[in-house]
Amino acid sequence: MLEQFEKIGKDALADLKKVTDPTALEDYRIKYLGRKGQITQMLGRIGKLPPEQKPQAGQLANKIKKEVTAAFEQLKKTLLQSQGQTRELIDVTLPGIPVNIGKTHVITQTLNELLEIFGRMGFAVAYGPEVEDEWHNFVALNMGPDHPARDPFDCFYIDDNTLLRSHTSPVQIRVMEHTKPPIRIVAPGRVYRPDTVDATHMYMFHQLEALVIDEGVSMVDMKTTIEQFIHAFFGPGTKWRFRPSFFPFTEPSAEVDLLLADKSGKESWVEMGGCGMVDPNVFDAVGIDSEKYTGWAFGFGIERLAMRKYSITDIRLFFENDLRFLEQF
Ligand code: PHE
Repeated sequence: MLEQFEKIGKDALADLKKVTDPTALEDYRIKYLGRKGQITQMLGRIGKLPPEQKPQAGQLANKIKKEVTAAFEQLKKTLLQSQGQTRELIDVTLPGIPVNIGKTHVITQTLNELLEIFGRMGFAVAYGPEVEDEWHNFVALNMGPDHPARDPFDCFYIDDNTLLRSHTSPVQIRVMEHTKPPIRIVAPGRVYRPDTVDATHMYMFHQLEALVIDEGVSMVDMKTTIEQFIHAFFGPGTKWRFRPSFFPFTEPSAEVDLLLADKSGKESWVEMGGCGMVDPNVFDAVGIDSEKYTGWAFGFGIERLAMRKYSITDIRLFFENDLRFLEQF
């Protein structure tokens, strides 16, 4: 009897060595430790033994059961752990693979900031086409056929009457054609000029046009608005000046210069764009009563504003799409 018990114990331990996965382990449990398992049955047989054999047999059977159960539990633990490890091959504490997220281009950022500043001052936003006709780009803006700015060298012509707009001022005409005063708009957009490309010139750039028309509008309104804008965009202390100028569509006209320091701290006057009081000839062209209404307009270069604000020294950087540049903004 005792030898039988010993054999069951040995077999059980040997069998356990063959178990390598949870399914086999469960089969093993049923075979030896389950209700009808060999070890359970072995214990059951003790009750039927003659009383003098019981203590010794009982001791042995319990020892075997303990050993086998302990070995079984140990293996169960190891199997569960190794299973867990295969599932957790991904170490969640490792740094992830960076995903490149796009961002708003610095010109668009500048544009959004400009629109916000003018939005706060009560300006609506207007847009016009980049492919324009001569009427809107020139004629209605008081630029007759002989005006030097109409020279084909200054414009990209598509056919005799069609061109890529050379400024955003044609949007003024489009707005005036379908809006009765009072008018208070800004018009941002791309403009095109066949300039030789260098650090400050590009054949395509952006302008922000403004147009205000109402009864009794004067140059004081224009000056106040421009000053408020410059101080909001560049900071309260920023110095600027009007410099007398000429545009066919404004009279009087001025250039707006800003006094700004470059990286080394050297200050200089930089031209931001033109402005002036709307010429009565322009009002006549769009059928607005120039006796009743007055107005002012400006057109600023957006790249120029951004270059000065962020100390960018080459306009070409905006359009090269070099991420090392773009990611700085
Ligand atoms: N359109 C002019 C330019 O491109 C700028 C301007 C706009 C001047 C409005 C006066 C009024 O240079």
